[in-house]
Order: sequence, then structure tokens, then C-alpha cells
Amino acid sequence: MPDTLTITDNRTGQTYEVPIIYGTYPEYGAAIPAKELRAIKQSESDFGMLAYDPGFTTTASCRSAITFIDGEKGILRYRGYPIEQLAQNSNYLESAYLTMFGDLPAPDALEKWTWEITHHTYVHENIKRLMEAFRYDAHPMGMFVSMVAALSTFYPEASDVHDDECRMKQIQRLIAKVSTIAAFAYRHGRGLPYIYPDNDLTYAGNFLSMMFKTSEAKYQAHPVLEQALDALFILHIDHEQNCSANAMRSVGSSHPDPYVAIAAAAAALYGPLHGGANEMVLRMLREIGDVREVPKYIERVKQGDFRLMGFGHRVYKNYDPRARILRELAPEVFEITGIDPLLEIAIELERIALEDDYFVSRNLYPNVDFYSGIIYQALGFPVAMFPVLFAIPRTTGWLAQWLEMLNDPEQRIARPRQVYTGYDEREYVTPDLR
Ligand code: CMC
Repeated sequence: MPDTLTITDNRTGQTYEVPIIYGTYPEYGAAIPAKELRAIKQSESDFGMLAYDPGFTTTASCRSAITFIDGEKGILRYRGYPIEQLAQNSNYLESAYLTMFGDLPAPDALEKWTWEITHHTYVHENIKRLMEAFRYDAHPMGMFVSMVAALSTFYPEASDVHDDECRMKQIQRLIAKVSTIAAFAYRHGRGLPYIYPDNDLTYAGNFLSMMFKTSEAKYQAHPVLEQALDALFILHIDHEQNCSANAMRSVGSSHPDPYVAIAAAAAALYGPLHGGANEMVLRMLREIGDVREVPKYIERVKQGDFRLMGFGHRVYKNYDPRARILRELAPEVFEITGIDPLLEIAIELERIALEDDYFVSRNLYPNVDFYSGIIYQALGFPVAMFPVLFAIPRTTGWLAQWLEMLNDPEQRIARPRQVYTGYDEREYVTPDLR
């Protein structure tokens, strides 16, 4: 059987044979090159057929070898490695290397990569001054987006996006400096002095030091908490063509420097439909307030009063594998920080929902946000920092998507078409006649 699709245009009776292209798994990656549709015309002067797909729910915008998701089975892999194995055995910078370059690094390559990231964490002193211009109550994500964009002006050479060496330097700078900017944004809001990076610490350990260090000579986070944050960073590195990855590719496709493109991607992440759901989970758990109130709350969800936050996913129709990892991680964290009553409510909510036909029949399972917010809170992060905590590791994913896009000869400037529904041509009307 040929790998083609035959389309019949019932307006003209014409048939067209369109090739089918596949990815690694034919059952997940079959697509038609949409430009073939342009041949479908009613007359020679026709523009040709377009694919209408708001939200790109059925459009593959690229071929990608970075992340694989099977939403039915609850599988997430970076470069072929299951997320569970990476969370268990790897660390953030090693997984970042894997995501960026395609393979796990040999020991010397990892050492060099870690050294480079660690030694690019300082920011120009003027970044600090720019930061000081924000109001005392500025949202840390707004500060993060602005400061990442501002980095563009400190590294004008970064606009040479076609030079491999130059690109690599910006990648290292960005992965390093986003953690510093994030911590500075938090300290600004608290009126605390900024803490400079400590190169002796791990990526997660240094971030915790920049966040929470006070008068001690050296800040050493509890190893369990440091590891928990590291695991959270691994889980958030990439999630294929989501809204912010798409923003990164789309903005990056006009070839600006990666700082402004990352700022655009972070702006996309800021929205409550993308990076903001874990905050909603926390609000919901606080509103429930007591384990005994859970059944009543579930009833209201079933009546359609509101949705169960942290449940359901556009792609996962099974347990989100990241949520499963976090569910196991949470008790380890709480053993150090003390039990958070919200965790009890979350576990009871999950238990009841997973037994209830409403949720079972709709394939509604906990997603990553169901547990991440409770853990962030236990680690001492205020809610406003949640999207920023997401943006730090996702910077690696965005940069991997950007690099893949720049190296892909099939990619062009992102420029969707439209189906125009406005007026036909009309004459200008002077104000006195309107
Ligand atoms: N609580 C109760 N009912 C739900 C929920 C929920 N959380 N999610 C979906 N449903 C119901 C929905 O009412 C509909 O029922 P019916 O068929 O009777 O009308 C059915 O399930 C399908 O819902 P949908 O809106 O068509 O599903 P979707 O794939 O478009 O939406 C979602 C996915 C994530 C927007 C949605 O599940 C939701 O709103 N969840 C709560 C918010 C949340 O946790 N968001 C975080 C997502 S993960 C973030 C990330 O990976 O970036």
C-alpha cells in the first residue's frame, strides 16, 4: 500500500495524491505536508486550499527529536530517556546537556559544561540597577521577562545567530543567568540585598543560596531539598511544542538574538493557561481547607460549578508521569520541612477523584501542577515565584527548540495564513457622512 492520501475535491471532481510523512513512531507521527494542499484549486487563479487549525491542535509545526510524549500511556522522554530515569539518576545540568545536544555527556564533557554554566551565573552590575527601578510589589515574572530581554543589550554580539560558537556562548549564559535573575527578582520584592552566585554549589544549591541566604558565611541547603528542587528542574526542562516553545520558535524564526526570544517564550509561559495552574491548585487546596470537605468539593466539581485544578491535560489522558514522580517526592520534602496539611487534602482529593466515574470516564488524572505547587511552597517559595521557577529550567528546553529550529533547513520564518472574513473593498467615508 502506498504511503499516500487521496483527496477528492467534490467541487471539481478532481483527485489529488498527497504523500504521508512519518516520525519515529508511525502511529504518532503521520502527517501530510500541508503545502501539498495548495494544489487543490477551483480555478487557476485560486490561492489554493489552506488548513484551518486554530490553536494548532492538529498541526505539526516541525520535525523534532527532542521530547516524546505519549499522552494515552502517560510517557514523557527527553531524547529517548524516560523522565522517571532522569529524575532518579541524573541532575539538572546533565539532563540539560542531554536535551540540548541529544546524548548523555561523557564525564569530561559534563565537567566542562557544568564549569561553563557555573562560571556564567554573574550578571552585569547594571542589571542590578535596572532591577532596582521596579516597584516594590512588581511581579517577579514581569521582572524576569524584562531582565532577560535586557540581557540582549549587554551582549550585542548575540545577534550573530548563525555562528555556532557565538550561539553556544549565549546558551551557556542564558541557562546560567536566568537563575540569578530569578533570585534577584525575589530579593527585590522582599527588600533584601542581592546575593551573588556561589560557584562551589550545584545549580539548584546555588539558586537556593541566592534566594534564601541571610547573614551566614555560606548557605548550604538541606541536601534533600536541594535534590528535590533539582528533580523539579529536570521535570520542567521541556514538553515539546507547547505554547511557550512555539513562541520561542516563532520569534526565533525571524532570527533575533536568543535573549529577546527567551523573553517572548517566558511571556507566553506567564499566562494562567500555561505556567500559572499550580498557583490555582494551591488556592483551591486552601479554599477546601480540611480533608473532611473534600467529598463536598468533588460534588461541586461534578455539578460543573468549577474545575478541579491540577486535573486533566490536553495531551495526557493518563496519569501525568511528572505528577507521579512529584507525588513520591512530596513526603521526602515534608519530612524535612514539616507536614503541610495541604498535602493531606491533595492526596484525599486525588484518591476520591480517581475512584469516581466522572473523572475516570473523562480520563482526568493529576497533572504536573497538582503537586509542584505544594512542594514549591514547602521549599519556601512564594506563589508569585511559581512561574519563574518553571521558566528557569524551561529556558533549556526553549534553547534546545531554538537550536533545532535554526539547524533545520525546512524551517522558515513563522508566518501563518488566515481565512479572511472581513469586508470586501469599500470606499472611504468622510466624517460628516458616517
Ligand atoms: N475538572 C473537572 N472536569 C474537567 C476538568 C477538571 N480539571 N478538566 C476537564 N474536565 C471535563 C470537562 O468539563 C469536559 O467534560 P464534558 O465532556 O462533560 O464537557 C471533559 O472533561 C473534557 O474537557 P476539555 O476542556 O475538553 O479538555 P481539554 O483537553 O481541552 O482541557 C485542560 C485540558 C488542562 C485545560 C483541562 O483539563 C483543565 O481545565 N484542567 C484544570 C486546569 C489545569 O490543571 N491546568 C494545568 C494543565 S498542565 C500544564 C502544562 O502542562 O503546561
